[in-house]
Amino acid sequence: MEFLDRYQQIVADAITKYTFKDKPSELYDPMNYIISHGGKRLRPIMVLMACEMFGGDLKQAIKPALAIEFFHNFTLIHDDIMDEAPLRRNKPTIHTLHGLNVGILSGDGLMLKAYKFFEDLEPEIFKACIRIFTHTGLLLCEGQQYDINFETQKDVTFDDYIRMITYKTGVLSASSFEIGALIARADFKDAKAIFNFGKHIGIAFQIMDDYLDVFGDQAQFGKKHAGDIYENKKTVLYLLAREHATDEERKELDYWYSKKTENVDKVYGVEKIFRRTKVDEKALRLIEKHNEIGQSYLQKIDVPEEKKKPFIELANYLLRRES
Ligand code: IPE
Ligand code: IPE
Ligand code: MG
Ligand code: MG
Ligand code: MG
Repeated sequence: MEFLDRYQQIVADAITKYTFKDKPSELYDPMNYIISHGGKRLRPIMVLMACEMFGGDLKQAIKPALAIEFFHNFTLIHDDIMDEAPLRRNKPTIHTLHGLNVGILSGDGLMLKAYKFFEDLEPEIFKACIRIFTHTGLLLCEGQQYDINFETQKDVTFDDYIRMITYKTGVLSASSFEIGALIARADFKDAKAIFNFGKHIGIAFQIMDDYLDVFGDQAQFGKKHAGDIYENKKTVLYLLAREHATDEERKELDYWYSKKTENVDKVYGVEKIFRRTKVDEKALRLIEKHNEIGQSYLQKIDVPEEKKKPFIELANYLLRRES
């Protein structure tokens, strides 16, 4: 997609420019390692897109955009520790290569570097951005804690799940758009509307992430196939399967989710139930639903329709992704 290529190039150039050269290298090399493996770099693009839509100066948005990407990568390093994930972006995770201490510290370091990237903003915008950023970080921690709690909690409802993914994933994409809008000095109402667009796109994005864990191709997705099943994650697939399962299937699901094991029979058994209950189709419909809610917020924004087209394209790209 052409408009994405342009933003992606801006982000890639900025990332190269700000490669960490600090010492000790044992702390900073892992940060450069994860950042340099790319990923889709969607959140910094969201900052830039919102800034441009509201007529802001892209140059002012570049460092805050990088801040969001560094912050995102910090959450990934720590998430991989919590999820015991061996693989990210088709590369070994930092804690598997260097141990837990380096995983914790390089994650912390990236988060703090992220804060420093806001320092050049004018005081008023700086204050507003830092407020949103810190609040987002806290919600993200709350979402991650729910995610862990749910591994062993038996009565997780659909509303619990939506709250958990809103916090762990939805608010960061929402804030990325909002920060871009603030840098462009958009009015309060428009900044909130683009926040809500990002929130629902983020919810849809996480549902897609859950879907790809099982129905994606590991080589393209870059993460261990069925990692969520091994970890007893209460994903959208699990919740839908449990709702539509027969009594016997529900018993089997409960059996597999009552223990953590690397036994592939678990994945085989769970995936059979996922397929039988057609949770793949159901999850894709939910993604569409949140995409539509997101679009309804986009419609409320007071800019020419032409300027909204890239946002619709971005949402469609995200929700049809394979990586
Ligand atoms: C992964 O995010 C974490 C989730 C919120 C699902 P991305 O899928 O955006 O990861 P990268 O940065 O592109 O690798
Ligand atoms: C992660 O959710 C959300 C955050 C990193 C905050 P997941 O645990 O599903 O993300 P992946 O699949 O490991 O990227
Ligand atoms: Mg994970
Ligand atoms: Mg996780
Ligand atoms: Mg996942």
